[in-house]
Amino acid sequence: MRTFTILTALIGAVSAAPSLISRAATPFSVASPGDVHDITLTANNTLNGTYHSPATSDANKFANQAQPKPGHLPIKLVNSFGGGHVNAYISGLDSENRVVFIKGDGSLLYPSSGGSSTPVPVSDAVKIPLPAKGKSITITVPIVLTSARIYFAEGTLPFFIVKIPTGDGLVQPSPANLKDPSAGVNWGFVEVSYTEGKSVYANISYVDFVGMILSMTLSVKDGSGTQITRGLHSYALKEICQALAQQTHKDGFPWASTCITNSHGTPIRALAPGDYGAIKPAAFQHYWTPYVDKVWQHYTKSALTINTQTAAGKVKCHVKGDKLYCDGDNRGYSKPSANDIWGCNSGPFAIQAGDNDIHKAVVPRLCAAFVRSTLLIPGGDVQPGVSRSKYYKVGPTNHYSRLVHKFEVDGRGYAFPYDDVNPDGNENASGTLASGAPDKLTVYVGAPPPSKFFKSGKSG
Ligand SMILES: *[C@@H]1O[C@H](CO)[C@@H](O)[C@H](O)[C@H]1NC(C)=O
Ligand SMILES: *[C@@H]1O[C@H](CO)[C@@H](O)[C@H](O)[C@H]1NC(C)=O
Ligand SMILES: *[C@@H]1O[C@H](CO)[C@@H](O)[C@H](O)[C@H]1NC(C)=O
Ligand SMILES: *[C@@H]1O[C@H](CO)[C@@H](O)[C@H](O)[C@H]1NC(C)=O
Repeated sequence: MRTFTILTALIGAVSAAPSLISRAATPFSVASPGDVHDITLTANNTLNGTYHSPATSDANKFANQAQPKPGHLPIKLVNSFGGGHVNAYISGLDSENRVVFIKGDGSLLYPSSGGSSTPVPVSDAVKIPLPAKGKSITITVPIVLTSARIYFAEGTLPFFIVKIPTGDGLVQPSPANLKDPSAGVNWGFVEVSYTEGKSVYANISYVDFVGMILSMTLSVKDGSGTQITRGLHSYALKEICQALAQQTHKDGFPWASTCITNSHGTPIRALAPGDYGAIKPAAFQHYWTPYVDKVWQHYTKSALTINTQTAAGKVKCHVKGDKLYCDGDNRGYSKPSANDIWGCNSGPFAIQAGDNDIHKAVVPRLCAAFVRSTLLIPGGDVQPGVSRSKYYKVGPTNHYSRLVHKFEVDGRGYAFPYDDVNPDGNENASGTLASGAPDKLTVYVGAPPPSKFFKSGKSG
């Protein structure tokens, strides 16, 4: 508890005398952007294509190769940002899995690494400068585009391209690397898939971090109504960082350090605790241990019911020995570590080849129940079961997810990988927009659109 005491004293002193805050004492992490040699290539920041050409090119240069499959998706970008100049970038994979950017005039750019296994900067021509606040620009994506992202940045966001065994891979900005060339930039993205069947799936994800404030709407051609995910309030990041600092004051864990500022001390992003693990792996190591122990004790004596929300219906689970076993499940679950709970995809939550449908249904529901700390509250013996208003009410919990949802305008947008686990009924936190008959995708940067614009229509 020594750390706790020192931290409390530190934050106490800081709040008592704000003028005495020195850079060293600020509880937030500070970005110190480096150059290409400070990039770390991982599965998290790479989009690996299967194509390599000796030089950067446009779509008309595919001599002996398949042309990209055509499409027509208008994307409107609305600038509602109160800060500096914003640039957008649209990247993804074409129908032949080639890394491609859509430029501001709707033309294509296929960047080339030139065969370099050291990442090389992508041409500045991919930058789409947004018009002034209150104005918009519409770009029509002319091809099918998957694993796509629409990035927004205050200023310039650096992208790189690198030779990989299969072709050329895109090196994307990495939110959890304090020395990444992008580290000092305020940026964010929405994920989009525009499939060969001309369906659109778009989501705003806060699974890894909260950065630039984004919201989106999808108008459709089948009369089913415009869909909207409002995302976070314009002031959310500052509030989330302040609340994370308060949480550190309360429990002594380094929530405050998961908030990253630029060199001027302005918060530019808040990292999910699992992603913060890339900076300080042991930071939350023992955070969940007492809770996990209590859950194991509790479900040794009584049954946990998992509603698989599949044909298998509800299954009963019990702790026997050191594992939790569910009826009809092909294997049991050992106690999860903090990292397992943040990521929902390691330890007992790693789904293996050969796992049966019950196992595949239990993993997301069990992990979501931990993240939301609903396993020991009244009604928590059926998962998913309790309503959203009961999530994150007892400690320990995922305070990052709690705060993201607190500052979401309509409660939607993933704050952890299985945020789409919900009780039967209409609640769905996923924030995904999807349509087989898309008309236009609109993304608002800096602030959500006023709600009076959207009286009806379904939300994802
Ligand atoms: C892409 O390739 C790089 C280099 O081979 C590798 O480090 C990275 O994990 C790959 N990314 C994905 C998403 O598989
Ligand atoms: C968001 O959508 C993209 C594109 O459809 C998909 O690849 C990704 O898994 C989705 N993310 C989440 C968290 O659902
Ligand atoms: C990728 O990000 C996840 C969190 O989303 C983290 O748990 C994992 O360690 C990261 N992987 C690498 C190779 O950095
Ligand atoms: C929530 O919505 C997402 C996106 O539409 C979908 O993939 C997911 O299955 C839904 N979850 C539930 C429990 O209905």
